[in-house]
Amino acid sequence: MNKVRVFAPATVANMGCGFDVMGMTLDGVGDVISVEVLDGEGISIINNSGVELPEDVDSNVVTPAVRALLAAYGECKKVLITIEKKIAPGSGIGSSAASSAAAVYALNVALGRPFSDERLVEFAMEGEKLISGGTPHADNVGPSLLGGVVLLRSYEPLDIVRLPVPDNFCCSVAHPEIMVSTRMAREVLPKEIPLRTAVKQWGNVAGLVAGLSLKDVYLVGRAMCDVVVEPYRKRFIPQFDELREKVLAVGALAMNISGAGPSVFALSADMKVAERVGEVMREHFAQLDVKSDIYVSKVSNQGARVLND
Ligand code: HSE
Repeated sequence: MNKVRVFAPATVANMGCGFDVMGMTLDGVGDVISVEVLDGEGISIINNSGVELPEDVDSNVVTPAVRALLAAYGECKKVLITIEKKIAPGSGIGSSAASSAAAVYALNVALGRPFSDERLVEFAMEGEKLISGGTPHADNVGPSLLGGVVLLRSYEPLDIVRLPVPDNFCCSVAHPEIMVSTRMAREVLPKEIPLRTAVKQWGNVAGLVAGLSLKDVYLVGRAMCDVVVEPYRKRFIPQFDELREKVLAVGALAMNISGAGPSVFALSADMKVAERVGEVMREHFAQLDVKSDIYVSKVSNQGARVLND
């Protein structure tokens, strides 16, 4: 198969307290990328998305990811990529990551699957490095490729842990029509944090992992609390604290910024509550004259997959 079309899902990075080390997979929303491999050399990209993407190949996130895979493969190939973007760039639900994930997944299939899915995470991270101002991170590309909830226990060496997802883990995501670039959202973060803050955060990260392992969605909810990153990023989201009060009042267990924002996500233990939370989020942004897209789903255990098998 030298032409492969792949879907890679949107993702929620950080999951509250797990900045750069935790991420989960959404259902039903994602990017589609086709890759054709021919003899020769070079990468060309066609944008079939209806949204603007960088026109030169070197500025597109998929390029460093594809180059990293080809370098490891060790043979020259000509790679033709067609991008059908469904996730708005800068949305905070892993738009660039889904493209990088889909591109390396499709290329790997087209080459006869020389690499494991875990190895593909390393290649896709190169795309994240391009858009984040130099720091490769895998909390979006990991779940987009692998599905479910993913923990990056270590980056050097890369140690990927797939965590169980409680059955009643229901997620509401609102993507308000505001542009927040990952680079900007990372630049506002402090380089150092006080020990007392770190103690709170690692208690929560441990609680999050324990809650997932014990399938205790209430413990997950208590632990989804970010004292490190959120204080610096919530200013990008209109009336963030008020929105959290509203969604907790209708039964959500936690609400946080999704990835670098501006999307927010809330956890609920029941789909009906999650749907109500989605409505509350939509109303909140509508009252502020901000349009929003709402997604309500359980966490998906399916990551990137071929569409033309
Ligand atoms: N962990 C990343 C961040 C996700 O919060 O900046 C966005 O790429």
